[in-house]
Amino acid sequence: MSDTKRFDEAAATWDSVDRRVVLAHAVVEAISSRVPLTKELAVLDFGCGTGLVTLALAPQVGSIAGADTSSGMLKILAEKAEAKRLPLRQILLDPSGGGDLGGPYDLIVSSMTLHHIADVPALFSRLVSHLNPGGTVALADLDEEDGSFHEDRTGVHHHGFPRAHIQAWLEQAGFRQVHLGTATVTHKEGQDYSVFLATAQRG
Ligand SMILES: C[S@@+](CC[C@H](N)C(=O)[O-])C[C@H]1O[C@@H](n2cnc3c(N)ncnc32)[C@H](O)[C@@H]1O
Repeated sequence: MSDTKRFDEAAATWDSVDRRVVLAHAVVEAISSRVPLTKELAVLDFGCGTGLVTLALAPQVGSIAGADTSSGMLKILAEKAEAKRLPLRQILLDPSGGGDLGGPYDLIVSSMTLHHIADVPALFSRLVSHLNPGGTVALADLDEEDGSFHEDRTGVHHHGFPRAHIQAWLEQAGFRQVHLGTATVTHKEGQDYSVFLATAQRG
């Protein structure tokens, strides 16, 4: 089964796993401690899924868009946004890496999506081109792990990341003031997995 189909099928029950909700909220906390969130900001959540991060940020920013390759995930996001009367734009992306991300944005966030992207340096170059000058990225994902985080490794291109790789790729893409810290530690099947938050500004 393709990665996109797998996420389509998982969408309806995605939020029923407490660990994901707790992780997303910890990432939002980590983002807000690094980036001043204001009603002036146009924000994109790349790989937004059901919007656990998107909808927590929405009331704190000017506008927010959620982009994802899974129409199933975006459908759940749309239902939740409507129930909460939170306006947001949804962007269905082509799994091949194409599709317009919209913008330009002041802030692009992403949580637990980078490890599903084969060519992360290319994604960082793509993100920088959708930011306003001085705009910020805040990207959370697994630190390097032993491969045990996913039982089904379909569409998993990285077993987390060494922080030095993320730093180098961001700098190569033209980001400055790169900062990497620990957003949270998530617990799964008796094991701890640390999650980084990388923040950087378009140079
Ligand atoms: C582990 S989920 C995380 C979802 C959400 N950010 C959260 O924190 O709950 C990864 C998400 O990335 C999406 N995704 C996978 N490959 C992608 C790609 N190439 N471009 C954009 N989104 C992608 C999946 O459809 C899924 O919604």
